[in-house]
Amino acid sequence: MTLLEHTELPPLSDQLPQKFWTGTSYHAPSAYEVDCTPFEMNDADLEPDSELAQLMQRTYDDVGLVLLRNTGLTDPARMRQFAQIIVSEDMTYEGGANPRDRMEGNVYEIGAPLVARLPYHHEMAYLGKSTSLISFLCLDPLPDAGATFVSDGVASTDAILATPLGQKLKDLGVCYHRSLTDAENFIGEVGYGVYNHWQKSFETDDAAVAQAKAEELGLIVEWGENRLMRTRYYNPAFEYFPTLDRNMLYSSLADHGLWFDTWPLVQHLPFGARPLHMTYGDDSEFTRDELQRFIDVYDEFGTKIDWERGDVSVICNYRFAHGRPGIVLGEGETRKLGVLLGEQFDRVGQRDDKW
Ligand SMILES: [Fe+2]
Repeated sequence: MTLLEHTELPPLSDQLPQKFWTGTSYHAPSAYEVDCTPFEMNDADLEPDSELAQLMQRTYDDVGLVLLRNTGLTDPARMRQFAQIIVSEDMTYEGGANPRDRMEGNVYEIGAPLVARLPYHHEMAYLGKSTSLISFLCLDPLPDAGATFVSDGVASTDAILATPLGQKLKDLGVCYHRSLTDAENFIGEVGYGVYNHWQKSFETDDAAVAQAKAEELGLIVEWGENRLMRTRYYNPAFEYFPTLDRNMLYSSLADHGLWFDTWPLVQHLPFGARPLHMTYGDDSEFTRDELQRFIDVYDEFGTKIDWERGDVSVICNYRFAHGRPGIVLGEGETRKLGVLLGEQFDRVGQRDDKW
């Protein structure tokens, strides 16, 4: 099936409910928070053998998640240094599906409109190269309404494998479909149906270079009208995680057309015509029941993170998915996080002997 055929599929008439958690966090804050009040947050604390660094590393190793609280930090460059206690090698954001602007060094703005609901996902799951961890730095919190949620990967993997949906994902894998528009076709225009231009995603104005970069990432490239870049990527739905020596669920509906259910200028399109879509690896669609189950299996193991200014978080991209509901800002309110990606790795997919 080609992407064009997907455009004939009817849109779901209403949004699938997504709660992000049960109302109680799956992990207690005491398991992953590090209170920085006793620390000066000076250069000595950045040393790998410092008390803070050791505490941070231990928490991250145990849980797959660490959140520095009460840091007193406001400068993204300084916050990045503390994240780098765990993030030993940060990467540039290349080939990403959504547009991000650079804030400082390799700290990026979150590349999504605040009003958009961001379903649970593992970062860069739709590429041949992914990232082992992701770090969020809180610059401007929005109490309560601006929370991020993280979902426990061990629990969601076990839960989905106990369902027919999980077994189907295990057998068929998934296909990620993407349509990247040509920036030159949208100069000075309101971008109806526009999510990201291939020039921005691949940081080049040369279509051949963009294609080469996409192919290097394992994507199958086709060019449509108006230099619309269409890519397909077939991959297992699970990923082997060496640290725990087991396969982990590594796909989610954030890469399905429903990601755009609340995106201005895109939400009116049927799934197949949206800039991202996901099917099973045999190109068949998920049923509505399967979509709901796929959402629920993440929601059931969600933990709510209420941001405070200066928070530095590091999240293992295997052990946790992250997401958040849409955010509506009131008068004079802001909500700003920086994002830093960690070590890049080549996906190996699922291993038959590691279920
Ligand atoms: Fe993300």
